Amino acid sequence: MIEIRNISKTYDNGTKALKDIDIRIQDGEFVFIMGRSGSGKSTLIRLLLKEAEPSSGRIIVNDMDLQKMPRRYIPKYRRRLGVVFQDFRLLKDRTVFENVAFAQRVVGASPRKIREEVPRMLKLVGLSSKYKSFPHQLSGGEQQRVAIARALINRPEVLLADEPTGNLDHENATEIMKLLERINALGTTVVVVTHSQEIVDQMGKRVITLNKGRLVSDERKGGSDRED
Ligand SMILES: Nc1ncnc2c1ncn2[C@@H]1O[C@H](COP(=O)(O)OP(=O)(O)O)[C@@H](O)[C@H]1O
Ligand SMILES: [Mg+2]
Repeated sequence: MIEIRNISKTYDNGTKALKDIDIRIQDGEFVFIMGRSGSGKSTLIRLLLKEAEPSSGRIIVNDMDLQKMPRRYIPKYRRRLGVVFQDFRLLKDRTVFENVAFAQRVVGASPRKIREEVPRMLKLVGLSSKYKSFPHQLSGGEQQRVAIARALINRPEVLLADEPTGNLDHENATEIMKLLERINALGTTVVVVTHSQEIVDQMGKRVITLNKGRLVSDERKGGSDRED
């Protein structure tokens, strides 16, 4: 479970990016963090990754208080979270296979494990025929699939996606959202940042809306599995 308790974040230059934010996310949930540019969405993701520190409040992830976490534990903690960004951040001179394998190699996986698991993950994201392609040979949607495979290869408990469809057209964006939904159905908690009303409306998930650093609503919206 992720517990964000009364979090505020003021940057050194005085920008109040987050104000008194309270959010609880249960294991296995799919949650959108929605809001206009500048509303504090990426700041929230950075706090969860412990790439930035809150000015006040507490964040607890699976009973670990991030403020009390020893520095040496941070890399290990980050590996329990998978992350995906708008700009994919792939290694441009490596193949699809190598991009995903690399993430496993850095945590010391054996060559045998890599040979088994990378193909399985590429199959899950629908890229079985593209192992040997380089990023520039792929569409944006395919590049994001590689990034998702890389984020999942070490089996994180939570997948954080910051505007994962920001560079994609509507069709590709919808495909990526369906993939994230499938990943969630397989048990991973998924937190997706977006500024697209269209996307949240079509998905029917919990939507937490930020505006100028404040949480303005937290509700289930749209889609076909509407509960209210
Ligand atoms: N490192 C930083 N230093 C100072 N201000 C920042 C920094 N990062 C973000 N901000 C400011 O904090 C606010 C929230 O930014 P951000 O969390 O990136 O919003 P969003 O992801 O919703 O667009 C904005 O006003 C932004 O300019
Ligand atoms: Mg952002």
